[in-house]
Parts: sequence; C-alpha cells; structure tokens
Amino acid sequence: MARHFKDNMIDQIQNAASIEETLALMRRRLSNVVPDFELSYKAELAFKINQLKRKLHAVILAHNYMEPALYHTVSDYRGDSLELARISAKTDADIIVFCGVRFMAETAKILNPTRQVLLPAQKAGCSLAASITANDVRQLKARYPGVPVVSYVNTYADVKAETDICCTSSNAAKVVKYLNSRGHERVIFLPDEYLAKNVAAETGIHIIFPGLPGTSFMNQAGNFERALIGWRGRCEVHEKFTVEDIENVRRQFPDTVVLAHPECSPEVVKASDFSGSTKAMIDYVKNVSAPRYLLLTECAMGDNIAAENPEREMLRLCSVRCPHMNLITLEDTLASLEKRQYEITLPDDIIKRARASLDRMLEIG
Ligand code: 13P
Ligand code: SF4
Repeated sequence: MARHFKDNMIDQIQNAASIEETLALMRRRLSNVVPDFELSYKAELAFKINQLKRKLHAVILAHNYMEPALYHTVSDYRGDSLELARISAKTDADIIVFCGVRFMAETAKILNPTRQVLLPAQKAGCSLAASITANDVRQLKARYPGVPVVSYVNTYADVKAETDICCTSSNAAKVVKYLNSRGHERVIFLPDEYLAKNVAAETGIHIIFPGLPGTSFMNQAGNFERALIGWRGRCEVHEKFTVEDIENVRRQFPDTVVLAHPECSPEVVKASDFSGSTKAMIDYVKNVSAPRYLLLTECAMGDNIAAENPEREMLRLCSVRCPHMNLITLEDTLASLEKRQYEITLPDDIIKRARASLDRMLEIG
C-alpha cells in the first residue's frame, strides 16, 4: 500500500477521545497552513465525522486536492485517482464517502457496486468530464472503426462504458504503449487535449485532432505513423499555468524545482523539472531535497504537503482552487454521513460496461 496512506498523526486525530484532543492534534499538524480560529471551529466537525464514520462502518476516501482541515483529519485513505480507484475496489466498508469529484465517486461505485457510495456535494463536477459525451465517443468510433478508445478517468460513467481502457495521469503513457505493443498503431485518447499531447510527446507518437485543419495521419515520407486521436477538453485549473509563470518564479528564485501536473500544457510541462500525477508530485517533494518547490497544480495540495512536511518550502502560484474540489467541505461531509447524501446510482448495464474498461486499466497497472 502506498506510503502516504498511513499517517500516525491522522490516526491519532481519528481516535481522539474529545473535541479538545482533536483540536490539540489538529494544531500540531495544521497550524502552519490553517488559521487558528478555523481550526477551533473545524475540530468539532472532524470529531463528529470520525465518531459517526465508525458507527456506520463507513470509509472516507480523500483526493489529494481536499482542503487541509479535511484531508488531515477524517480521511482513511488519501491519494491520486489511481490509488483511490484501487482502494474503492477493495474496501469492505458499508459506505464509501468520496471526498473528491463526481467522476471519482462514480468510479468507486462502478468498482464496488454493492457499497453505498456518497458524494458530499451534489454538484462537484470537472471541466474535463463535462467536455465529452457518450454520443461524442460513439461518433468517433464510427469515424475510426476498430481503433481502441482510451479515456482518462476524468469522464462520466456513460463515457467509460463506450471506452476500451481507462487511464489516469499515473498510467496514461503505459496504457498507450500497451496498445501499441498489441499492434494498435492508432489510439483514440480522450478527453484531455494537454494530457494527450504530453503522452504523445513522452511516447514519441504523432497526434491529431479530428476536425482541425492540417491534421493528418501521414508523415513527411508519406507513410502512416503511430498516432493518437485526441479531443479538446481541458482542465480549467491546469490550463491557467503558463511558461511565463515559471520564468517569473525562476528569475526570483533560480533554485526552485518546478513540478507540473500532466494536465498542464506541453509547453509548461517542458519548462518544468518534473511532471507526474498528484501522488508522483507528493512523492517527489518528500524524496528529493531542494531549496524550494513550485507546484503547478490545484493549490490545496501544496498546503497538504506543507502540513505534513513543514521543513519543505512550497511556493504557490495559486489564486484559485478547483471550483469542484472546493465544494467538498467538512460540513458537507458530516451531512453526507448523517443524511446518506448524495448517493451515486448508475444503471446496471453502464456499470457492467464501464467496469470492463476500468478493470483493463487496473490489470495494466
Ligand atoms: P490525479 O490522478 O493525478 O490525482 O489527478 C486527478 C485530477 O483531477 C487532477 O486535476
Ligand atoms: Fe477536473 Fe481540473 Fe478540477 Fe481535476 S482540477 S477535478 S481535472 S477541473
């Protein structure tokens, strides 16, 4: 199991016998990133959630983008999309409360359909998942018959149901290479334009976007090349980072190590020192010592790393959080357990077909 799932301080907070003890422990973990008045108020919520969670035999999964006062207090498992998908598939808890966005909670339901899966905020979406419909995928399949479809997990269940293999930012290149090794020279890769371009650059594969002028499968010699067929969805958070942002920071702090999520543009990824999933970025900061780090990703994650590793200096370029992740609060998480809301339900045939695409991904690793 991944290292950062186990955290003694979080275990202690979850087993605290009173609100006062919860607050004292939260201060130890979080006082460098959360103001004290906020901790006093949130300690009571965290204590109630931890008690109710035990009583209901529920488990809380938290994506790395959750706000620090939730991430470090009530989550049983923390991770990136791939890690949380694996945990979802295995848990025997009666209730899974998914502190993340809807596509992640849907993935948990698909992988463990007999559990009750709750998403604390009904409207926690994702600009990537909203960028493509199942009908769009059917049309692409009709246009490129026989070409396998790889979909990023940041898609809704009906899109996954039209997909051959899902992927996350952790294994996208691996999934494409797997298909290439099986003789598939072309792969439809949906829906993130930037992730597709970054995977194409990493694997040395040509990329086209249907409908855009000048896109062709032919190389200069006139031969067919291996190619990705992309879609033009974007993450509304990561598309905001620019090469200029990096240059400005490097001008001021030349020894900064820059880490970019692969949902950033290829130019930003190229100008960075490292690119990887949220887990890969966390592991990098923990394992590679540097004077300071700049994370080009959702800003709560920098606070989460700083809380656990106060000796690491994290620079932030954050003015906005992911508006969808930001909807998940301790208040809503408590209400979710109390009222069993908002339950994820999906049609059986969608679960069955989407499950096949997720299982294939989990088999590849
Ligand atoms: P990870 O799988 O890297 O955690 O990314 C999920 C996500 O939504 C990033 O914006
Ligand atoms: Fe979607 Fe971007 Fe938010 Fe991740 S950060 S959930 S990709 S909108």
